[in-house]
Amino acid sequence: MTPPEHPRPPGLLDGQIALVTGAGGGIGRGIALRFAEHGAAVALHCRTSVAAARETARQAGDAGARTVVLQADLTDEDACRRLVREAAEWGGGRLTALVNNAGVQPTRALPEMTAGEWREVVDTNVSSVFSCTRAAAEVMREQGGSVTHIASIEASRPAPDHAHYSASKAAVVMHARSAALEYGPLGIRVNTVSPGLVHREGLEDAWPDGVRRWREAAPLGRLGRPQDIGDACVFLASPLASWVTGHDLVVDGGVSARSTW
Ligand SMILES: NC(=O)c1ccc[n+]([C@@H]2O[C@H](COP(=O)([O-])OP(=O)(O)OC[C@H]3O[C@@H](n4cnc5c(N)ncnc54)[C@H](OP(=O)(O)O)[C@@H]3O)[C@@H](O)[C@H]2O)c1
Repeated sequence: MTPPEHPRPPGLLDGQIALVTGAGGGIGRGIALRFAEHGAAVALHCRTSVAAARETARQAGDAGARTVVLQADLTDEDACRRLVREAAEWGGGRLTALVNNAGVQPTRALPEMTAGEWREVVDTNVSSVFSCTRAAAEVMREQGGSVTHIASIEASRPAPDHAHYSASKAAVVMHARSAALEYGPLGIRVNTVSPGLVHREGLEDAWPDGVRRWREAAPLGRLGRPQDIGDACVFLASPLASWVTGHDLVVDGGVSARSTW
């Protein structure tokens, strides 16, 4: 059962300048809109989905947020640095929150997987996180800030045909813990959010069996919504999480709590 939208206290992120990567995609939109609703100015990153990112920016503007859309291919380290610099310049020299959400989720059985396919997932899902975080930390080191990577429950529970993806998400979780250690003294907190299956347009038609199995396995009986992931990211970027770093926040309707035997 989908819970009703409830009014939430505004202003948790007042004064923050946030950069959300992959904001033209499903979860990225949910994150960006929640940041906007809670008072952040939001730089929305996209690579190819410019129209979708602009539509997210329009909706974030309706929620009262200042926005900008920035484009970059995050497999290019220089592009990561440029993206962070542009976001910080737009923010008047400040960047207080980065959400590393962009990623790819292809499927391929291990025996057929090429080294190129493996590398594409690692470059997109892991190396971009390393590069964007390092660039953001350079900006945040003056005043502190937060970095949140979007990992996955597959970081600890692999799914078939997803070895590259699961490995990439496990790497992201460990990057966040390592970064929490090293950037903590600079006042920079680094965490991950690990979503379970999140609804997107057409998913039920494309994968009816998977969606049915998910609903049966989930104690809360439903798929996630992009805004559920956004809520977790807002918490981690907010003062409510000022003593939280190196943490992996699982947001999966309780699926990971279920025993596997
Ligand atoms: N959907 C789920 O059930 C689920 C569950 C757990 C974790 N996640 C994670 O959540 C994140 C968002 O997933 P989603 O479902 O919202 O996927 P999505 O709709 O496909 O959005 C992902 C975005 O990543 C961007 N991207 C991909 N490769 C890129 C590159 N080389 N450079 C820059 N941007 C790139 C794409 O940007 P453009 O479209 O602009 O090219 C795309 O909009 C991912 O990290 C995913 O692994 C998703």
